[in-house]
Amino acid sequence: MSSRLPAKTSKNRLARLFANLKGIGVVLIANTGIVDPNFHYLTGFTSGLFESSLLLAHKDHMYLFTYSLEYETGLEERPENMSVINVMDDVKAAKALLSRLLKGKKVGFDGEFLPFEAYRHIQSAYRPNKMIDISDGLRSVRLVKDEAELSNIKKAVRITKTAMREIPKYFKEGMTELQLMARFDFIQLSLGANESARYNIVAFGKNTALPHHFSNSTKLKKGDLVIIDAGAVVNNYYSDISRTFIFGGAGSAKQRDMLQTVKEAQKMAIGLAKPGKEWMGMHDMAAKFLDTTRDGRYKGEFVHAIGHSIGLEMHDNPASYLRTRKLEPGMVITVEPGVYEVGFGGVRIEDDILITKKGYKIL
Ligand code: GLY
Ligand code: MN
Ligand code: MN
Repeated sequence: MSSRLPAKTSKNRLARLFANLKGIGVVLIANTGIVDPNFHYLTGFTSGLFESSLLLAHKDHMYLFTYSLEYETGLEERPENMSVINVMDDVKAAKALLSRLLKGKKVGFDGEFLPFEAYRHIQSAYRPNKMIDISDGLRSVRLVKDEAELSNIKKAVRITKTAMREIPKYFKEGMTELQLMARFDFIQLSLGANESARYNIVAFGKNTALPHHFSNSTKLKKGDLVIIDAGAVVNNYYSDISRTFIFGGAGSAKQRDMLQTVKEAQKMAIGLAKPGKEWMGMHDMAAKFLDTTRDGRYKGEFVHAIGHSIGLEMHDNPASYLRTRKLEPGMVITVEPGVYEVGFGGVRIEDDILITKKGYKIL
C-alpha cells in the first residue's frame, strides 16, 4: 500500500531545512545505486528504489527527475508540492529544466553522499554558481522528528520489542546464531516490518564480547550468554534494541552481576535525559559508573558510545555528531551501555527513548 506525505508535513520539513541554509536557493539530492536517506526524508516515499534519480528542492516546491521504472510510483506517492519528471519522455527537455534550475544558483548538496564524479559532472554540465555541502544541516534537521516520523519509529520499536519477548521460546541447544537470526527476522516480518535491519546481531557465548560480531554457525550451549541486537524497518524508519539473555538456567553469579550492572548503568543514563542537557553527560555518567562500580571490576570494558539517534538510518546521527549537542524534544536516541570481557562474554542492553518537553519516554 502506498502512502503520501501530508502536504503540511512536507512543507514543514522544507521550511525547517531552508531555515538552516542561509543563502541557498536549491537543494540537490542525487541517488546513486543506493538511495540517500535525505531523499526519503524530503519525498516521504515508502516504495520504489529510485536509483539514479535526482531531487531538486526549493523552499516551496520540489522536482523529481526519474525514469519509467519508478515514474508511476513517484506520481502515486508524491507530496502535493512536487513535480515528477520522467526523463525518458524527453531527455532534452529534462536537461533544459535541470539547467534552468541549477545554472548560476547556489546549490546545497549532501557531501556525505554525492560521489565525486557526480559532483564534477553537475558542475561542468549545469554550471551552478556555487555548490555548498549542507550535510550537517540535513543531519541537524533530521535530528528532531515530526509526528509522521515518530509514528513509523514507534511501529518499528513495537515490532522489535515484541520479537524480543517471543524469541526465547525458540532458543534450542545446538542451534546456530544464523538460525536464531532467521527466526528473529521471520517474527519481525510477520509482525509487519518492511525489512529486518541490516547488521542485526545474534551472538552466543564468547561471541557476545564482540560488540559488532557478525552472526555465524556458532552453536548454542547451556549456560551461554545470548545477545540479540536488532532493528526493524517500517517505511524506511529504524528501531534499534538489544537484549542479553542467559540460555538454560539462571547463569553464573558473574553473568548475573554483569547483567545487573549494565541495567543500573542504563537506568542512570536514561535518568539524565532532559531537554537542554548535553548528550555527552549521559555517556560520561554511564562510563564513569561502569569503570568504578564493583571495585572497578568492569573498568575499561565499556568500549563504545552510550548511543546515537535513530531515524532513516540506524545510526541517523552518530555519537561523533551528538557529542557536542544538547538534547531537544523530538529527538529519538538509543541508550545502550554494555560490558565486554574478551574470552568470556559480554552484556548489552539497548532501548530507544524519545526526548519529550519535560524529560523522556522509553519507546
Ligand atoms: N549494533 C549497533 C548499535 O546498536 O548501534
Ligand atoms: Mn543496536
Ligand atoms: Mn544502537
